[in-house]
Amino acid sequence: MNWRHKHLLGIEGLAPEEITLVLDTADKMAEVATRPVKKVPALRAKLVVNLFFENSTRTRSSFEIAEKRLSADTLNFSASTSSVSKGESLVDTILNIERMMPDCYVMRHPSPGAGQLISGFTKASIVNAGDGAHEHPTQALLDAMTIRQRKGGFKGLKVLIAGDIAHSRVVRSNIHLLNTMGAKVTVCGPATLLPPHIESLGVTASTEFEEAIKGKDVVMMLRIQLERQKRGLFPSLMEYYQRYGLTEERLKLAAKDVIVMHPGPMNRGVEIASEVADGPYSVILDQVENGVSVRMAVLYLLLGGGEDVSAH
Ligand code: CP
Repeated sequence: MNWRHKHLLGIEGLAPEEITLVLDTADKMAEVATRPVKKVPALRAKLVVNLFFENSTRTRSSFEIAEKRLSADTLNFSASTSSVSKGESLVDTILNIERMMPDCYVMRHPSPGAGQLISGFTKASIVNAGDGAHEHPTQALLDAMTIRQRKGGFKGLKVLIAGDIAHSRVVRSNIHLLNTMGAKVTVCGPATLLPPHIESLGVTASTEFEEAIKGKDVVMMLRIQLERQKRGLFPSLMEYYQRYGLTEERLKLAAKDVIVMHPGPMNRGVEIASEVADGPYSVILDQVENGVSVRMAVLYLLLGGGEDVSAH
């Protein structure tokens, strides 16, 4: 199957075969990292602009590494050191960079739909690197690559996503992806962090962590996003940990071969205990490693055409 999209703005609407194509391409890209020269010429002379209007460690660095491994030229743009800090709008910023002839924008922005907005002002492809609480498609794809490596597939897999569901773009992209691929998703958190009507996305919702974790094959913990909360949505971090923190004791309630995931950055001792984050069931650093391969795959499929990367 061939990739038929100009942009990757979200997981919603992607077909199972398209998700599988990204994951299969990412597997091939992972092989590039094992070579003495970790580079292929697939995106030579393509210009990728990394536009980050919010902070990032994993997404930003792995996109930059992915671009370099594909031999693309890169321009790194931070809102804090640009004329955005003088009040320049997003659209004016794009209209100006557009005259520098980019082939692709990788953009993180606090506003949901920011990628969709700029698509009307550019000829380039756009990859959404996180837009507010809407979507973070490459995170869900790297999570899927990690799950597929450990579990072999998705059909019937019991997945718990727990924590700050209300403010998370990671959960939305993961729900779309896991539902599309045939997994069964439960989301869990305090009622104040569960959006109303979340079940309409095709998940089971629970406020009882110890009930929700029982028998799960995959447990994905989400960060409490204090910076996006305007008022206290639970009594204290200590009380949150007591009810919703993933401890070694609670993990025993999951399936025997459970894997523990977290998109990062982690609040140790809030949503997850250090012993679990660093323990034998954790695949958290595998997620980070797979981020480079998935981002290489996405850029390659959007910009590289049909050439087989393994031929390089
Ligand atoms: N998972 C994730 O998006 O991490 P960063 O915010 O560090 O990019």
